[in-house]
Amino acid sequence: MNRILRKDELAPDIFRMRLSAPLIAAGRRPGQFVILRATRDGERIPLTIADASVEEGWIDVIVQVAGAGTMRLACLRQGDAVPDLVGPLGQPTRLGRYGRCLGVAGGVGIAPLYPIAQALKAAGNHVTIILGARSRDRLILRPEIGAWADEVLTATEDGSAGRKGLVSDVFLDLARQGRAFDRAVVIGPAPMMRAVSELTIRQGIPTIVSLNPIMIDGTGLCGGCRVEVDGQMKFACVDGPEFEAEGIDWESFLRRLHSYRDFERRTREMESCRLTSV
Ligand SMILES: Cc1cc2nc3c(=O)[nH]c(=O)nc-3n(C[C@H](O)[C@H](O)[C@H](O)COP(=O)(O)OP(=O)(O)OC[C@H]3O[C@@H](n4cnc5c(N)ncnc54)[C@H](O)[C@@H]3O)c2cc1C
Ligand code: FES
Repeated sequence: MNRILRKDELAPDIFRMRLSAPLIAAGRRPGQFVILRATRDGERIPLTIADASVEEGWIDVIVQVAGAGTMRLACLRQGDAVPDLVGPLGQPTRLGRYGRCLGVAGGVGIAPLYPIAQALKAAGNHVTIILGARSRDRLILRPEIGAWADEVLTATEDGSAGRKGLVSDVFLDLARQGRAFDRAVVIGPAPMMRAVSELTIRQGIPTIVSLNPIMIDGTGLCGGCRVEVDGQMKFACVDGPEFEAEGIDWESFLRRLHSYRDFERRTREMESCRLTSV
């Protein structure tokens, strides 16, 4: 059983959970994730490993309440156990000494960018980070990323921190200043990844995105997470979750991501009734 050693609310509906998981902590590399369940009969939830300590045997996951499964997870407290936890899953981030690296993250996408920014810096790159959120209180992990990056720029939609606007506006500001980058990593909601990667690719920057399709088994067997990259079918759980943005068929990716929308809305409504009635 993997106990919750610590639980912090980072922002409204966004929690950091520290789980006891010595084997996963020892094996994990940046870019990898776990699949867990909050209850024995619950949904499988893929979550990036945001941080880990091999010495102390824990991993940190950061979860945003999206639907029924994440709502149940957010109800667990320090000392409770997570019944199922599998990982580390997925391919680690490809690391190299690229030169000037740009990381762009929106919303809870900041959680997967954090270990990648750490690793890019440790590999000897100059690291510029752009973080975006709806408002200042949702701009998570800003100090943690700032401790590793050479430069952190922020954007909020309401203007409560950094530039008023979107992460793409900050990127365009940098491009207008003539700033060049050798590699970009873009992580966040699918439409944001699509929009930002179109801009970076247009500037000739090789760009990686971390895809978040529906995942079920996480082993490459169920086909739930299939995505079309360079005209080939890939499984994000075993071939990804990171892919070169240039080859992604965004239309089919977004269509599949939204195919269970009505079902998800119904289960979310049922779960919130259950949670508010206890
Ligand atoms: C590799 C990977 C890493 C992820 N890392 C994180 C993370 O670090 N922190 C985090 O908060 N979330 C992360 N996610 C997204 C997270 O898994 C989903 O938000 C979660 O599974 C939703 O489950 P649910 O039962 O609460 O909601 P559901 O009822 O299943 O869905 C509710 C809403 O969430 C959306 N959703 C469902 N599945 C996903 C998904 N896989 N990705 C994005 N949106 C989804 C649906 O479209 C719907 O609008 C990751 C997803 C993947 C594939
Ligand atoms: S989640 Fe089943 S194949 Fe990837």
